[in-house]
Amino acid sequence: MTGIQLNGVTKRYGETEVITGLDLNIHEGEFLVFLGPSGCGKSTLLRMIAGLEGVSEGQISIGGREVTHLPPGGRDVAMVFQHYALYPHMTVYDNMAFGLRNSGVDASEIERRITEAARMLELDALLKRRPAQLSGGQRQRVAIGRAVVKEPEAFLFDEPLSNLDASLRTRTRVELARIHRRLNSTMVFVTHDQIEAMTLATRIVVMNRGRIEQIGAPLDIYRRPATRFVAGFIGAPAMNFIDVEPAGENGGRLLVRLPVENIVIPTTVATGSLPSGQLTLGVRAEHVVIDNQGPLAGRAEFVERLGDRSLAHVSVPGCPLIVVEIPRDYELQAGDPIRLNIDAAHLHIFDASGIAHHGG
Ligand SMILES: Nc1ncnc2c1ncn2[C@@H]1O[C@H](COP(=O)(O)OP(=O)(O)O)[C@@H](O)[C@H]1O
Ligand SMILES: [Mg+2]
Repeated sequence: MTGIQLNGVTKRYGETEVITGLDLNIHEGEFLVFLGPSGCGKSTLLRMIAGLEGVSEGQISIGGREVTHLPPGGRDVAMVFQHYALYPHMTVYDNMAFGLRNSGVDASEIERRITEAARMLELDALLKRRPAQLSGGQRQRVAIGRAVVKEPEAFLFDEPLSNLDASLRTRTRVELARIHRRLNSTMVFVTHDQIEAMTLATRIVVMNRGRIEQIGAPLDIYRRPATRFVAGFIGAPAMNFIDVEPAGENGGRLLVRLPVENIVIPTTVATGSLPSGQLTLGVRAEHVVIDNQGPLAGRAEFVERLGDRSLAHVSVPGCPLIVVEIPRDYELQAGDPIRLNIDAAHLHIFDASGIAHHGG
Protein backbone atom coordinates (compact mmCIF):
# COMPACT_ATOMS: atom_id res chain seq x y z
CA MET A 1 0.00 0.00 0.00
CA THR A 2 1.33 3.46 -0.88
CA GLY A 3 0.47 6.90 0.46
CA ILE A 4 0.57 7.62 4.17
CA GLN A 5 -1.44 5.81 6.84
CA LEU A 6 -2.04 7.03 10.38
CA ASN A 7 -3.48 4.52 12.83
CA GLY A 8 -4.72 5.68 16.22
CA VAL A 9 -2.03 8.34 16.36
CA THR A 10 -2.02 10.10 19.73
CA LYS A 11 0.31 12.75 21.07
CA ARG A 12 0.66 13.84 24.66
CA TYR A 13 2.88 16.45 26.22
CA GLY A 14 2.89 15.38 29.86
CA GLU A 15 -0.77 15.27 30.87
CA THR A 16 -1.99 17.26 27.90
CA GLU A 17 -3.28 15.32 24.93
CA VAL A 18 -2.90 17.41 21.77
CA ILE A 19 -3.72 14.72 19.16
CA THR A 20 -6.31 12.08 20.00
CA GLY A 21 -6.50 8.63 18.33
CA LEU A 22 -6.26 9.94 14.82
CA ASP A 23 -6.93 7.58 11.88
CA LEU A 24 -6.26 8.79 8.36
CA ASN A 25 -5.41 7.39 4.93
CA ILE A 26 -3.55 9.86 2.76
CA HIS A 27 -3.76 8.62 -0.83
CA GLU A 28 -0.75 8.44 -3.08
CA GLY A 29 -0.52 11.55 -5.25
CA GLU A 30 -3.19 13.57 -3.49
CA PHE A 31 -2.85 17.10 -2.18
CA LEU A 32 -4.15 16.79 1.35
CA VAL A 33 -4.61 19.88 3.50
CA PHE A 34 -4.85 19.94 7.29
CA LEU A 35 -6.99 22.97 8.08
CA GLY A 36 -7.88 24.29 11.49
CA PRO A 37 -7.42 27.15 13.92
CA SER A 38 -4.10 27.92 15.54
CA GLY A 39 -3.25 25.43 18.29
CA CYS A 40 -5.46 22.58 17.00
CA GLY A 41 -2.46 20.28 16.45
CA LYS A 42 -1.68 20.62 12.72
CA SER A 43 2.07 21.16 13.08
CA THR A 44 2.38 18.46 15.72
CA LEU A 45 0.71 16.00 13.38
CA LEU A 46 2.90 16.94 10.42
CA ARG A 47 6.04 16.76 12.55
CA MET A 48 5.05 13.27 13.71
CA ILE A 49 4.72 12.21 10.05
CA ALA A 50 8.15 13.74 9.36
CA GLY A 51 9.69 12.02 12.38
CA LEU A 52 10.60 15.29 14.08
CA GLU A 53 8.24 14.53 16.96
CA GLY A 54 7.68 11.19 18.68
CA VAL A 55 4.30 9.44 18.72
CA SER A 56 2.75 8.66 22.13
CA GLU A 57 0.50 5.93 20.70
CA GLY A 58 -0.38 4.51 17.30
CA GLN A 59 1.45 3.83 14.04
CA ILE A 60 2.49 5.73 10.94
CA SER A 61 3.28 4.12 7.56
CA ILE A 62 4.71 5.85 4.51
CA GLY A 63 4.75 4.13 1.12
CA GLY A 64 3.63 0.88 2.70
CA ARG A 65 6.47 0.82 5.25
CA GLU A 66 5.97 1.31 8.96
CA VAL A 67 8.09 4.30 10.00
CA THR A 68 6.71 5.05 13.48
CA HIS A 69 10.11 4.77 15.13
CA LEU A 70 12.37 5.71 12.21
CA PRO A 71 14.35 8.96 12.36
CA PRO A 72 13.41 11.73 9.85
CA GLY A 73 16.21 10.76 7.46
CA GLY A 74 14.84 7.23 7.09
CA ARG A 75 11.32 8.27 6.03
CA ASP A 76 11.77 9.53 2.48
CA VAL A 77 9.79 12.73 3.05
CA ALA A 78 10.80 16.36 2.55
CA MET A 79 9.46 19.12 4.71
CA VAL A 80 9.08 22.83 3.92
CA PHE A 81 8.49 25.17 6.85
CA GLN A 82 7.07 28.65 7.23
CA HIS A 83 10.45 29.81 8.50
CA TYR A 84 12.64 28.13 5.92
CA ALA A 85 16.32 28.56 6.75
CA LEU A 86 18.60 28.83 3.73
CA TYR A 87 22.35 28.84 4.30
CA PRO A 88 23.24 32.52 3.82
CA HIS A 89 26.84 31.93 2.72
CA MET A 90 25.89 29.39 0.05
CA THR A 91 24.59 29.96 -3.48
CA VAL A 92 21.12 28.83 -4.48
CA TYR A 93 22.72 25.87 -6.27
CA ASP A 94 24.68 24.81 -3.18
CA ASN A 95 21.67 25.29 -0.94
CA MET A 96 19.77 22.83 -3.12
CA ALA A 97 22.74 20.46 -3.44
CA PHE A 98 23.69 20.39 0.25
CA GLY A 99 21.37 17.63 1.47
CA LEU A 100 22.03 15.49 -1.60
CA ARG A 101 25.82 15.72 -1.19
CA ASN A 102 25.43 14.72 2.45
CA SER A 103 23.50 11.61 1.47
CA GLY A 104 26.14 10.67 -1.10
CA VAL A 105 24.25 11.33 -4.33
CA ASP A 106 26.83 11.71 -7.13
CA ALA A 107 27.58 15.07 -8.68
CA SER A 108 26.09 14.43 -12.11
CA GLU A 109 22.82 13.21 -10.60
CA ILE A 110 22.75 16.27 -8.33
CA GLU A 111 23.21 18.52 -11.33
CA ARG A 112 20.45 16.76 -13.27
CA ARG A 113 17.98 17.13 -10.42
CA ILE A 114 18.82 20.77 -9.72
CA THR A 115 18.63 21.72 -13.39
CA GLU A 116 15.22 20.12 -13.64
CA ALA A 117 13.90 21.66 -10.41
CA ALA A 118 15.32 25.07 -11.30
CA ARG A 119 13.54 25.00 -14.66
CA MET A 120 10.26 24.06 -13.06
CA LEU A 121 10.56 26.70 -10.33
CA GLU A 122 12.02 29.35 -12.66
CA LEU A 123 15.21 29.57 -10.66
CA ASP A 124 17.63 28.93 -13.60
CA ALA A 125 18.86 32.50 -13.67
CA LEU A 126 19.34 32.65 -9.91
CA LEU A 127 21.46 29.56 -9.22
CA LYS A 128 24.64 31.55 -8.57
CA ARG A 129 23.05 34.05 -6.20
CA ARG A 130 23.11 34.00 -2.43
CA PRO A 131 19.88 34.16 -0.39
CA ALA A 132 20.44 37.84 0.49
CA GLN A 133 20.24 38.67 -3.23
CA LEU A 134 16.76 37.13 -3.58
CA SER A 135 13.24 38.38 -2.90
CA GLY A 136 11.09 36.64 -0.27
CA GLY A 137 9.20 34.76 -2.96
CA GLN A 138 12.36 33.60 -4.67
CA ARG A 139 13.77 32.36 -1.36
CA GLN A 140 10.58 30.44 -0.74
CA ARG A 141 10.92 28.85 -4.19
CA VAL A 142 14.49 27.80 -3.30
CA ALA A 143 13.17 26.21 -0.10
CA ILE A 144 10.62 24.30 -2.18
CA GLY A 145 13.37 23.43 -4.71
CA ARG A 146 15.48 21.97 -1.94
CA ALA A 147 12.59 19.62 -1.13
CA VAL A 148 11.89 18.82 -4.80
CA VAL A 149 15.46 17.65 -5.54
CA LYS A 150 15.22 15.03 -2.80
CA GLU A 151 12.55 13.32 -4.96
CA PRO A 152 10.75 12.21 -1.80
CA GLU A 153 7.83 9.85 -1.42
CA ALA A 154 5.87 12.76 0.06
CA PHE A 155 6.17 16.51 0.62
CA LEU A 156 5.17 17.98 3.96
CA PHE A 157 4.42 21.72 4.04
CA ASP A 158 3.87 23.63 7.27
CA GLU A 159 2.26 26.98 6.41
CA PRO A 160 4.96 27.68 3.81
CA LEU A 161 3.17 30.72 2.38
CA SER A 162 2.29 32.55 5.59
CA ASN A 163 5.29 34.86 5.48
CA LEU A 164 4.64 36.09 1.95
CA ASP A 165 2.64 39.21 1.15
CA ALA A 166 -0.87 38.75 -0.24
CA SER A 167 -0.20 38.90 -3.97
CA LEU A 168 2.92 36.75 -3.77
CA ARG A 169 1.01 34.27 -1.67
CA THR A 170 -1.60 33.91 -4.39
CA ARG A 171 1.05 33.44 -7.08
CA THR A 172 3.05 30.94 -5.05
CA ARG A 173 -0.17 29.05 -4.41
CA VAL A 174 -0.76 28.72 -8.15
CA GLU A 175 2.89 27.67 -8.49
CA LEU A 176 2.47 24.94 -5.90
CA ALA A 177 -0.64 23.63 -7.62
CA ARG A 178 1.38 23.43 -10.87
CA ILE A 179 4.26 21.66 -9.16
CA HIS A 180 1.84 19.14 -7.75
CA ARG A 181 0.34 18.50 -11.19
CA ARG A 182 3.80 17.97 -12.68
CA LEU A 183 5.30 15.80 -9.96
CA ASN A 184 2.15 13.92 -9.03
CA SER A 185 3.63 13.28 -5.60
CA THR A 186 1.78 13.04 -2.34
CA MET A 187 1.62 16.46 -0.71
CA VAL A 188 0.48 17.18 2.83
CA PHE A 189 -0.03 20.85 3.54
CA VAL A 190 -0.88 22.56 6.81
CA THR A 191 -2.68 25.90 6.94
CA HIS A 192 -5.12 27.90 9.05
CA ASP A 193 -6.19 29.76 5.89
CA GLN A 194 -9.38 28.32 4.46
CA ILE A 195 -8.93 30.01 1.06
CA GLU A 196 -5.52 28.33 0.71
CA ALA A 197 -7.08 25.02 1.68
CA MET A 198 -10.04 25.40 -0.68
CA THR A 199 -7.85 26.26 -3.69
CA LEU A 200 -5.05 23.71 -3.21
CA ALA A 201 -6.61 20.63 -1.71
CA THR A 202 -7.76 17.43 -3.32
CA ARG A 203 -9.17 16.73 0.13
CA ILE A 204 -9.32 18.85 3.26
CA VAL A 205 -9.03 17.45 6.78
CA VAL A 206 -10.69 19.95 9.10
CA MET A 207 -9.18 19.70 12.58
CA ASN A 208 -10.37 20.99 15.92
CA ARG A 209 -8.64 20.37 19.25
CA GLY A 210 -6.53 17.46 18.09
CA ARG A 211 -9.36 15.60 16.36
CA ILE A 212 -10.70 15.34 12.83
CA GLU A 213 -14.04 17.13 12.40
CA GLN A 214 -14.49 16.27 8.73
CA ILE A 215 -12.60 14.95 5.71
CA GLY A 216 -13.77 15.74 2.19
CA ALA A 217 -13.32 17.51 -1.12
CA PRO A 218 -13.38 21.31 -0.69
CA LEU A 219 -16.82 21.90 -2.20
CA ASP A 220 -18.40 18.94 -0.40
CA ILE A 221 -17.23 20.37 2.90
CA TYR A 222 -18.49 23.81 1.92
CA ARG A 223 -21.90 22.49 0.87
CA ARG A 224 -22.37 19.84 3.54
CA PRO A 225 -20.36 20.75 6.63
CA ALA A 226 -20.60 17.89 9.11
CA THR A 227 -20.59 20.05 12.21
CA ARG A 228 -21.27 23.57 13.34
CA PHE A 229 -17.54 24.04 13.87
CA VAL A 230 -16.79 23.21 10.22
CA ALA A 231 -19.73 25.33 9.01
CA GLY A 232 -18.41 28.33 10.89
CA PHE A 233 -14.78 27.82 9.92
CA ILE A 234 -15.21 27.31 6.15
CA GLY A 235 -16.53 30.13 3.98
CA ALA A 236 -16.15 33.90 4.01
CA PRO A 237 -18.26 35.62 5.15
CA ALA A 238 -18.90 33.07 7.88
CA MET A 239 -22.19 31.21 7.82
CA ASN A 240 -25.09 32.96 9.62
CA PHE A 241 -26.26 31.13 12.74
CA ILE A 242 -29.67 31.74 14.31
CA ASP A 243 -31.00 29.88 17.37
CA VAL A 244 -34.38 28.35 16.55
CA GLU A 245 -36.99 26.11 18.12
CA PRO A 246 -38.61 23.09 16.53
CA ALA A 247 -42.19 23.95 15.50
CA GLY A 248 -43.59 20.65 14.27
CA GLU A 249 -43.40 19.23 10.80
CA ASN A 250 -44.90 19.37 7.38
CA GLY A 251 -44.82 16.06 5.46
CA GLY A 252 -41.96 14.80 7.60
CA ARG A 253 -39.94 17.98 7.12
CA LEU A 254 -38.97 20.09 10.09
CA LEU A 255 -40.54 23.50 10.70
CA VAL A 256 -38.57 25.93 12.85
CA ARG A 257 -39.58 28.99 14.82
CA LEU A 258 -37.28 32.00 14.50
CA PRO A 259 -36.61 34.17 17.54
CA VAL A 260 -38.70 36.87 15.86
CA GLU A 261 -42.43 37.52 16.29
CA ASN A 262 -43.28 33.83 16.24
CA ILE A 263 -42.26 33.37 12.63
CA VAL A 264 -42.21 29.75 11.49
CA ILE A 265 -40.33 28.75 8.34
CA PRO A 266 -40.02 25.42 6.53
CA THR A 267 -36.83 23.41 6.14
CA THR A 268 -36.08 20.35 4.00
CA VAL A 269 -34.57 18.48 6.97
CA ALA A 270 -36.31 15.19 7.82
CA THR A 271 -37.65 15.31 11.39
CA GLY A 272 -36.94 11.59 11.89
CA SER A 273 -33.21 12.19 12.09
CA LEU A 274 -33.30 14.90 14.73
CA PRO A 275 -32.56 14.52 18.42
CA SER A 276 -34.53 16.75 20.80
CA GLY A 277 -33.08 19.88 22.34
CA GLN A 278 -31.77 23.23 21.23
CA LEU A 279 -31.38 23.78 17.47
CA THR A 280 -29.40 26.28 15.44
CA LEU A 281 -30.22 27.25 11.89
CA GLY A 282 -27.21 27.91 9.66
CA VAL A 283 -27.42 29.64 6.29
CA ARG A 284 -24.78 31.17 4.05
CA ALA A 285 -25.01 34.74 2.77
CA GLU A 286 -25.77 33.55 -0.77
CA HIS A 287 -28.81 31.62 0.44
CA VAL A 288 -30.52 34.52 2.15
CA VAL A 289 -32.51 36.40 -0.47
CA ILE A 290 -34.15 39.78 -0.71
CA ASP A 291 -37.89 39.14 -0.89
CA ASN A 292 -40.55 41.81 -0.35
CA GLN A 293 -42.94 39.09 0.88
CA GLY A 294 -40.23 37.48 3.03
CA PRO A 295 -40.81 36.75 6.73
CA LEU A 296 -37.81 38.66 8.08
CA ALA A 297 -38.15 42.43 8.25
CA GLY A 298 -34.91 44.23 8.97
CA ARG A 299 -32.70 47.14 8.22
CA ALA A 300 -29.38 47.35 6.41
CA GLU A 301 -26.66 48.34 8.87
CA PHE A 302 -23.74 48.21 6.49
CA VAL A 303 -23.25 47.47 2.78
CA GLU A 304 -19.96 46.02 1.50
CA ARG A 305 -19.30 46.47 -2.23
CA LEU A 306 -16.49 43.98 -2.89
CA GLY A 307 -16.35 44.38 -6.66
CA ASP A 308 -17.26 40.84 -7.64
CA ARG A 309 -20.19 40.85 -5.22
CA SER A 310 -21.98 42.91 -2.62
CA LEU A 311 -22.91 41.99 0.93
CA ALA A 312 -25.45 43.60 3.23
CA HIS A 313 -25.31 43.23 7.01
CA VAL A 314 -28.92 43.30 8.11
CA SER A 315 -30.28 43.73 11.61
CA VAL A 316 -33.51 41.90 12.34
CA PRO A 317 -34.93 42.44 15.84
CA GLY A 318 -34.35 39.30 17.92
CA CYS A 319 -31.70 37.84 15.56
CA PRO A 320 -27.95 38.27 15.34
CA LEU A 321 -26.81 40.46 12.44
CA ILE A 322 -27.50 38.56 9.19
CA VAL A 323 -25.08 38.78 6.26
CA VAL A 324 -26.83 38.64 2.90
CA GLU A 325 -25.36 38.51 -0.59
CA ILE A 326 -27.28 41.05 -2.66
CA PRO A 327 -27.23 41.60 -6.44
CA ARG A 328 -24.01 43.46 -7.14
CA ASP A 329 -25.57 46.75 -8.19
CA TYR A 330 -28.66 46.53 -5.98
CA GLU A 331 -29.54 49.96 -4.61
CA LEU A 332 -29.26 49.69 -0.88
CA GLN A 333 -27.77 51.95 1.73
CA ALA A 334 -27.16 51.73 5.44
CA GLY A 335 -30.45 52.51 7.20
CA ASP A 336 -32.71 51.23 4.40
CA PRO A 337 -35.45 48.77 5.34
CA ILE A 338 -35.17 45.34 3.69
CA ARG A 339 -37.15 42.08 3.80
CA LEU A 340 -35.46 38.72 3.62
CA ASN A 341 -36.28 35.10 3.01
CA ILE A 342 -34.19 32.01 3.70
CA ASP A 343 -33.75 29.38 1.01
CA ALA A 344 -35.22 26.28 2.67
CA ALA A 345 -33.26 23.91 0.41
CA HIS A 346 -29.93 25.39 1.46
CA LEU A 347 -30.24 25.85 5.17
CA HIS A 348 -28.58 23.58 7.72
CA ILE A 349 -29.85 22.57 11.13
CA PHE A 350 -27.34 21.91 13.91
CA ASP A 351 -28.43 20.00 16.99
CA ALA A 352 -27.30 20.68 20.55
CA SER A 353 -24.13 18.58 20.05
CA GLY A 354 -23.19 20.59 16.96
CA ILE A 355 -23.94 17.80 14.46
CA ALA A 356 -25.34 19.05 11.14
CA HIS A 357 -28.61 17.84 9.62
CA HIS A 358 -28.92 18.74 5.96
CA GLY A 359 -32.03 19.03 3.89
CA GLY A 360 -32.67 17.77 0.40
N1 LIG B 1 6.68 20.99 22.86
C1 LIG B 1 5.46 21.21 23.34
N2 LIG B 1 5.17 21.07 24.66
C2 LIG B 1 3.92 21.25 25.12
N3 LIG B 1 2.87 21.58 24.37
C3 LIG B 1 3.09 21.75 23.05
C4 LIG B 1 4.38 21.57 22.47
N4 LIG B 1 4.26 21.79 21.12
C5 LIG B 1 2.97 22.10 20.90
N5 LIG B 1 2.26 22.07 22.05
C6 LIG B 1 0.80 22.34 22.18
O1 LIG B 1 0.12 21.46 21.31
C7 LIG B 1 -1.02 22.09 20.74
C8 LIG B 1 -0.95 21.98 19.24
O2 LIG B 1 0.10 22.79 18.75
P1 LIG B 1 0.46 22.88 17.21
O3 LIG B 1 0.54 21.50 16.64
O4 LIG B 1 1.64 23.74 17.06
O5 LIG B 1 -0.84 23.59 16.62
P2 LIG B 1 -1.08 24.29 15.19
O6 LIG B 1 0.06 23.94 14.30
O7 LIG B 1 -2.40 23.72 14.73
O8 LIG B 1 -1.20 25.75 15.46
C9 LIG B 1 -1.01 23.52 21.25
O9 LIG B 1 -1.91 23.61 22.32
C10 LIG B 1 0.42 23.72 21.71
O10 LIG B 1 0.47 24.65 22.76
MG1 LIG C 1 1.43 25.22 13.33
